[in-house]
Amino acid sequence: MSEPRAVSLAAQVGELRLANPLLAASGCFGYGLECDPLLPPETFGAVVTKTITPLARAGNPMPRIAETPAGMLNSIGLENVGLAAFLADKLPALAARGVAPVVSIAAGSAEEFAALAGRLAAAPQAIAALELNLSCPNLAPHGANFATDPLAVERVTRAVKDVFPRAPVWAKLSPNVADIGLVARAAEAAGADAVSAINTLVGMDIDLATGRSPFARVTAGLSGPAIFPVALAAVYRVAQSVRIPVVAIGGAASTEMVLKFLAAGASAVQLGTALYIDPGLPARVLAELADALRARGCADLKPLRAQWLEASR
Ligand SMILES: Cc1cc2nc3c(=O)[nH]c(=O)nc-3n(C[C@H](O)[C@H](O)[C@H](O)COP(=O)(O)O)c2cc1C
Repeated sequence: MSEPRAVSLAAQVGELRLANPLLAASGCFGYGLECDPLLPPETFGAVVTKTITPLARAGNPMPRIAETPAGMLNSIGLENVGLAAFLADKLPALAARGVAPVVSIAAGSAEEFAALAGRLAAAPQAIAALELNLSCPNLAPHGANFATDPLAVERVTRAVKDVFPRAPVWAKLSPNVADIGLVARAAEAAGADAVSAINTLVGMDIDLATGRSPFARVTAGLSGPAIFPVALAAVYRVAQSVRIPVVAIGGAASTEMVLKFLAAGASAVQLGTALYIDPGLPARVLAELADALRARGCADLKPLRAQWLEASR
């Protein structure tokens, strides 16, 4: 019997080279080392950290999670250790492991975003990219959400790009808009190196015993397989709207879903909620992706992506 053909799963998001196209989504993999050794960070092409804010945040009151038929609702409220502890503890711990994370950041204004990015620009450790979490309704005044306003996206992205030349800047967009393609174009115009799509959808639940939402903030963010078709449409729309790469996020829970994201134009795919259900998923998807390449006689992902993209136009 002949040896199985060697295939490469290497992926590229703009200038950033990744050993494989799977990333851990922000908020679903802590600061990268919490799941070790069950799910080592090196399994992923890159790890996106929990969103960091200028100051530590305790997050919203409990309960903060509820299951839905095909996903989950969360109202974590950006609980995080804050920039100082991230720089002192989390980033050095990842660096000691040889992991350069995609650092997710959020703040209440373009100026605050820039100040945060500036501090990260001065960090001695490697950073693969910055991901701007532009959908942080709990932070901005009056619950405003940058990602619903193309001008705000442009302002924040430009402010960060001005102070963070050392690695690519990705703008993470919200699906809770009329046309995500327009917002993606605003990010591109401001110099974003890639667009990450999508964050959670607005959802809610009602506890029939109390007649109230279980969440203090009433609505919450829906994630998981339930949002996959929405995410796929968003990724496709963004890929048709901009020239910069798209990083897909939203409900991916199987090799087929990852392949569909790549077919829709994504350069890489983040796994989020699915990691809670099955920490073995990334390794299995990578093995199945390699099998899919071998079965089609492809040495890497490029010809497959090109073929799908061509067919989808
Ligand atoms: C518990 C939880 C916490 C999250 N925290 C963040 C966060 O801090 N920053 C962020 O940009 N996205 C956060 N997200 C959104 C995910 O990164 C992702 O965009 C979303 O869950 C859709 O992907 P999925 O369906 O694969 O989980 C969070 C999601 C969950 C479920």
